[in-house]
Amino acid sequence: MFKNMPLVNGLTEYISKNQLAFHMPGHKGGRLMPELSSFSFAQMDMTEVSGLDNLQSPEGIIREAQQLAAKAFQSDACFFLINGSTSGIHAMMMATFQAGDQVLIPRNCHKSVWGGLILSGAEPVFIQPEYDEERCLVTHVSPGCVRQAIRENPNAKGMVITNPDYYGLCPQLSEIQSILAINGMKLLVDEAHGPHLIFHPDLPPSAAQCRADLWVQSAHKTLPALTQAAYLHIGNQVSPTDSRLIEKVTQYHRLLQSTSPSYLIMASLDYARAYMEEHGKVSLDMLLEHLTWTRSELNTLGIDTMQGYSRSEIYQIDATRLVLDISKLGLTGFQGEEILRQAGVQVEMSDSHRLVLVCTVADRREDFQCLVDACKHLSTHMGNREIKGRKLTISREIPRQMLSPKEAFAGNVEWVLLDQAAGRICGGAPVGPYPPGIPSYYPGELITKSGLEGLLENQAQGAQLFGLSEDDKISVIID
Ligand SMILES: Cc1ncc(COP(=O)(O)O)c(C=O)c1O
Repeated sequence: MFKNMPLVNGLTEYISKNQLAFHMPGHKGGRLMPELSSFSFAQMDMTEVSGLDNLQSPEGIIREAQQLAAKAFQSDACFFLINGSTSGIHAMMMATFQAGDQVLIPRNCHKSVWGGLILSGAEPVFIQPEYDEERCLVTHVSPGCVRQAIRENPNAKGMVITNPDYYGLCPQLSEIQSILAINGMKLLVDEAHGPHLIFHPDLPPSAAQCRADLWVQSAHKTLPALTQAAYLHIGNQVSPTDSRLIEKVTQYHRLLQSTSPSYLIMASLDYARAYMEEHGKVSLDMLLEHLTWTRSELNTLGIDTMQGYSRSEIYQIDATRLVLDISKLGLTGFQGEEILRQAGVQVEMSDSHRLVLVCTVADRREDFQCLVDACKHLSTHMGNREIKGRKLTISREIPRQMLSPKEAFAGNVEWVLLDQAAGRICGGAPVGPYPPGIPSYYPGELITKSGLEGLLENQAQGAQLFGLSEDDKISVIID
């Protein structure tokens, strides 16, 4: 073994710890992938030799695999992505929106949507999502806010929305689709966390079932597929009227994928689809049963599993996503994550109040038993103070946009102290308080005195400010 391989050594060392994985990728160590692991990964790592087709213009086995995926996920056409949903979000936004087009965007979108704005040159019409002050949790935009944004911006071309989010919360997608369709606008869905939804009737409806025009799904997050494996879909209703859109999607998909795509990743996309078609319903039944048991055990430990959580802007919650609010135990999510790590469990994510665990069809009953045992440590480490919702508020006001995301991204920046930033244009990266994690300023937006006061007030109440330099400076465009 060579000595100087920090990445290889770090990975092997981590794997040898044998942490129980409640995080992505959804295959959980390749448990459900016997067909793929009967050959070594290196053997399966092929290139476009005769008979193995070509992702850039598929005519053989890749085309067939994509067609099967379109059928399974109920789309008109499916494109395999070997650089995650990120590349699919970029492709669908570039295919749908031209420079200067207005696009409705919830302000808590994933950063890949921000990337899509930069690449396409489109202009965001930001909509503020709802915020649960008690739980310190940002949820979704309401249909009412979408209607209002359309009234104020009747020329907008469409909307990009997340379904479900990291916490498994799904917006009122069907209603939002109807509102957009009546106004001749396209619905693009970031369904990175939802490729499993379509395989079980008790789970929230998928973008396909809500008649989205385009959507992406990270197979690697919740299906037995390798990291970076994702699907980009075109909706059934798009094809008869909009053949140009299909051409555009094909063109941008080609542009944004490597000319040497990983056959391992593509094969895992084919495999995940086949697995879910054959076993998805039964495996999800079992997973939901394990989760019902787990939630009931955790409730007896005093852990809030957010069961029955509901708000008007939320249509349904994806029950496969396990979210544990441990604030009433006097612990922050960050502390909880560390306690569970010490007890041999690695979660996907934590925030000020919660732990988020990714559960998939690869999880077994004994894994949930181990999880419950590990969670007993949370109760015994109980902090001495209840973590209250700090009642952080979010301003509903959207700052004035002076430059498009593309212009702001290309602009030269300098770093200034916060108290010198009023009147300047935000550059570089989005800036905001965490929690709740919504940017107060996106690059290109005008920084105001009252906006800065709001930021500092949140900071005084204990929020961390993201997007600043280590010495707390903010990046602004050089005039
Ligand atoms: C909501 C959301 N959208 C998009 C992405 C990007 O997906 P990928 O990692 O497959 O590129 C993520 C990744 O975490 C995400 O959470």
